[in-house]
Amino acid sequence: MAKVGFVENFKRKEVRMSKKLAFLICLVFLFAIGCTQMENTKKCVDSQRLPQFAKGATYVGSERCAECHDELSENFKHNIHAKIAGFETKGSFVKPGCEACHGPGSRHADAEEEGTEGAEKLIVNPAKIPPEQASAICSQCHTEGDLMDWHGSEHEMNNLSCVSCHTVHEKQKEYAARDKLGYRHKYQGDKLLKKPEPELCFGCHKDVLAETRYPNHHPIKEGKLVCSDCHNPHGSEVSPLLRTDENLNELCLSCHQEKSGPYVFEHAPVTEDCSICHRPHGSVADNLLKQNEPYLCIQCHGLHFHSAIKPDTKYIIENQESGHSCPPGFAWNPSPETGGPKCAPAVTVPEAHSMQKVMTTRCTECHSAIHGSDLPSLATPGGGSRLTR
Ligand code: HEC
Ligand code: HEC
Ligand code: HEC
Ligand code: HEC
Ligand code: HEC
Ligand code: HEC
Ligand code: HEC
Ligand code: HEC
Ligand code: HEC
Ligand code: HEC
Repeated sequence: MAKVGFVENFKRKEVRMSKKLAFLICLVFLFAIGCTQMENTKKCVDSQRLPQFAKGATYVGSERCAECHDELSENFKHNIHAKIAGFETKGSFVKPGCEACHGPGSRHADAEEEGTEGAEKLIVNPAKIPPEQASAICSQCHTEGDLMDWHGSEHEMNNLSCVSCHTVHEKQKEYAARDKLGYRHKYQGDKLLKKPEPELCFGCHKDVLAETRYPNHHPIKEGKLVCSDCHNPHGSEVSPLLRTDENLNELCLSCHQEKSGPYVFEHAPVTEDCSICHRPHGSVADNLLKQNEPYLCIQCHGLHFHSAIKPDTKYIIENQESGHSCPPGFAWNPSPETGGPKCAPAVTVPEAHSMQKVMTTRCTECHSAIHGSDLPSLATPGGGSRLTR
C-alpha cells in the first residue's frame, strides 16, 4: 500500500522535476540571447521557434490576400480568428488577420501577381513546417488557460503540433448523431477540430478504443463523456494529461462527489488513489474494477474466517435469495421451529464453510461501505471500522 503511494508520488515528482529542469535550461538560454525584456517568458520561447518568414516581407493586410484567395477569405469570415480585435492580441506582437498565422505576405503577394515561379514558397503554410514551428505560430496568442502546460506535455514531446488536431480553414461540418465507430457525439460545436471527439483521439490511441468497448466502461460510447472531460490534450501538471491541478482523485471526485470524504472510517486505498482499484476507460470486471472480488481485495487482505462471528452459511445464502438484509453478525432465520422468520444472531459453523462463503460471496456484500463510512460497523470487537454500512 505504502509502496503504491510512493511510486505514484515519485512518478509525478519526476514529471514535475523534468519540466522544471527544462524550464531552467530554457531560461539560461534566453538570458544568453537577450530575451529578458520580454514580458512573458513562454512567449519568448515561442518567438525563438517561429518559422523563417520571407526576408524583407512586410504586412499587407487581409484585403490584399482576399484578392486571390477569395473563396477561402469568404469562409474565413465565420472563423473566430476573423473576429479578433487588435486589443485582444495585446501583449503579443502579432496583428490580427491572415498574416497573424502566415506571416508578412508582401513578397508572396507581389510574386504571385507577377507570376514568379516559387511564389508559394514565400509564405508560410503551418501544415508544411516542423511541428514545433507550427505550434509557435499559434502560441503567439495561446499561452493561457488550457494552453498553460503545453510546453513539456506528452503531446508536444511526441512531435504533435496544434495542427495535428486543429484545422483553421476546413469548413465545420454538421455532425451526425453518431460517428462512424458508432459512438454518440457529446458536443455539436467543435473548437476547430479536424475530427470530433472521441474519433479524433482514437485515430492515434487504438488501445483506448478497445478499452471503451469492454463490457464495463465509462459512458464514452454513449456520448455522456468525452476524453477531454478527463484529459487536457494541451498538457497538465498531473500525468497523464489529467484535467486537474491536484491529483487523480480530485478529478474523479469532481463528478463522483458522493465518494468524497472525509469519513470517520476511511479505507486507506480510496483516499490514496481511485486507480488502485478502478480502471478509467473500461474493464472486463464489474464497476470498472481492475479485478473482480474477492481477488481485488485479497491482493492486500488475507481471507478471513470470521473468528469472532461466524455466520451460518445456510442462513446467509437463504438471506441473499430471499432479499433480506440483516445487520452484520446476524442472519436470516427462515425456520418457525427455531423462532423465525426473522434476523437472528448468526450461528457458529465449521471454518470450511466460512472459507467457502468468503470465496463465493462478494466481500462488499458485507463490507458495503467500501469507499468509507461515517457509521461504525456493528458487533465488531475491532472498534467499528469494518466498513460494513
Ligand atoms: C496575386 C494573388 C495572390 C495574393 C495577393 C496572395 N496569394 Fe497566396 N497564393 C496565391 C497562389 C496562386 C497560391 C498557390 C496556389 C494555392 O495553393 O492556392 C498561393 C498560395 C498560398 C498559400 C499556400 C502556400 C503553400 O506552400 O501551401 C498560403 C498560405 C497563402 N497563399 C497565403 C496568402 C496570404 C496570407 C496572402 C495575403 C498576405 C496571400 N496569400 C496573398 C495567390 C495569391
Ligand atoms: C489562426 C491562424 C490562421 C489564420 C488567421 C489564417 N490561416 Fe490560413 N492556414 C492556417 C493553417 C493552420 C493552415 C494549414 C491548413 C489548415 O489547418 O487548415 C492554413 C492554410 C492556408 C492556405 C493553404 C491552402 C489550404 O487550404 O491548405 C491558404 C491559401 C491560407 N491558409 C490562406 C489564408 C488566408 C487568405 C487567410 C486570411 C483570410 C488565412 N489563411 C488566415 C492558419 C491560419
Ligand atoms: C492573433 C492571435 C491568435 C493566433 C495567432 C491564433 N489564435 Fe486562436 N484564437 C485567438 C483568439 C483571440 C481566440 C478567441 C478567444 C479564445 O478562445 O482564446 C481564439 C480562439 C481559438 C480556438 C477556439 C475556437 C472555439 O470554437 O472556441 C481555437 C481552437 C484556436 N483559436 C486555435 C488556434 C490555432 C490552432 C492557431 C494556430 C494555427 C491559432 N489559434 C492562432 C487568437 C489567436
Ligand atoms: C491532441 C489534440 C490537440 C492538440 C495537439 C491541440 N489541441 Fe487544442 N483542443 C483539442 C480539443 C479536443 C479541444 C476541445 C476540448 C477542450 O477544450 O479541451 C481543444 C480546444 C482548444 C481551444 C479552446 C479552448 C477552450 O478553453 O475553449 C484552443 C484555444 C486550442 N485548443 C488551441 C490549441 C493550440 C494553440 C494548440 C497548440 C499549442 C492546440 N490546441 C493543440 C485538441 C488538441
Ligand atoms: C496525431 C496523433 C494523436 C492524436 C490525434 C492524439 N494523441 Fe494523445 N498521444 C499521441 C502520442 C504519440 C503520445 C505519446 C505516446 C503515447 O503515450 O502513446 C500521446 C500521449 C497521450 C497521453 C499520455 C499517455 C501517457 O502514457 O503518458 C494522453 C492521456 C493522450 N495522449 C490523450 C489524448 C487525447 C485525449 C486525445 C484527443 C483529444 C489525443 N490524445 C489525441 C498521439 C496522439
Ligand atoms: C473518466 C475519466 C477519463 C476519460 C473519460 C478518459 N480517460 Fe484516459 N485516463 C484517465 C486516467 C485517470 C488515466 C490514468 C490511469 C492510471 O494512471 O492508471 C488515463 C490514462 C490514459 C492514457 C495513458 C495510457 C493508458 O491507456 O492508460 C491515454 C493514452 C488515455 N488515457 C487516453 C484517453 C482517450 C483517448 C480517451 C477518450 C476515448 C480517454 N482517455 C478518456 C481518465 C480518463
Ligand atoms: C466528467 C465526469 C466524470 C469523471 C471526471 C469521472 N467519471 Fe466516473 N462516471 C461518470 C458517468 C457519467 C458515469 C455513468 C453513470 C451513470 O450512467 O449513471 C460514471 C460511472 C462510473 C463508474 C461506474 C461504472 C459502472 O459500470 O457502474 C465508476 C466505477 C466510475 N465512474 C469511476 C470513476 C473514476 C475512478 C474516475 C476517476 C478516474 C471517474 N469515474 C471520473 C462521469 C465521470
Ligand atoms: C479498495 C478498492 C477501491 C478503491 C480504491 C475505490 N473504489 Fe470505487 N468501487 C470499489 C468496489 C469494490 C466497487 C463496487 C462495490 C459496490 O457494488 O458497491 C466500487 C464502485 C464504485 C462506483 C460505482 C458504484 C457506486 O457505488 O456508485 C463508483 C462511481 C466508484 N466506485 C468511484 C470511486 C472513486 C471516485 C474512487 C476514488 C475516490 C474509488 N471508487 C476508489 C472499490 C474501490
Ligand atoms: C491496495 C491495497 C488494498 C486493497 C486492494 C483493498 N484494501 Fe482494504 N484496506 C487496505 C488498508 C491499507 C487498510 C487499512 C488497514 C489498517 O488500518 O490496518 C484497509 C482496511 C480495510 C477494512 C477495515 C479493516 C479494519 O481493520 O478496520 C476493510 C473491511 C477492508 N479494507 C476491506 C476491503 C475490501 C472488501 C476490499 C476489496 C473490495 C479491499 N479492502 C481492498 C488496503 C487495501
Ligand atoms: C459474510 C460477511 C462478510 C464477508 C463476505 C466478508 N467479510 Fe470481512 N468482515 C466481516 C465482519 C462482520 C467483520 C468484523 C468481524 C471481525 O472483526 O472479525 C469483518 C472483518 C474484516 C476485516 C478486518 C480485519 C479482520 O480480519 O478481522 C477485513 C480486512 C475484512 N473483513 C476483509 C474482507 C475481505 C477482503 C473479504 C472478501 C474476501 C471479506 N472481508 C468478506 C464480514 C464479512
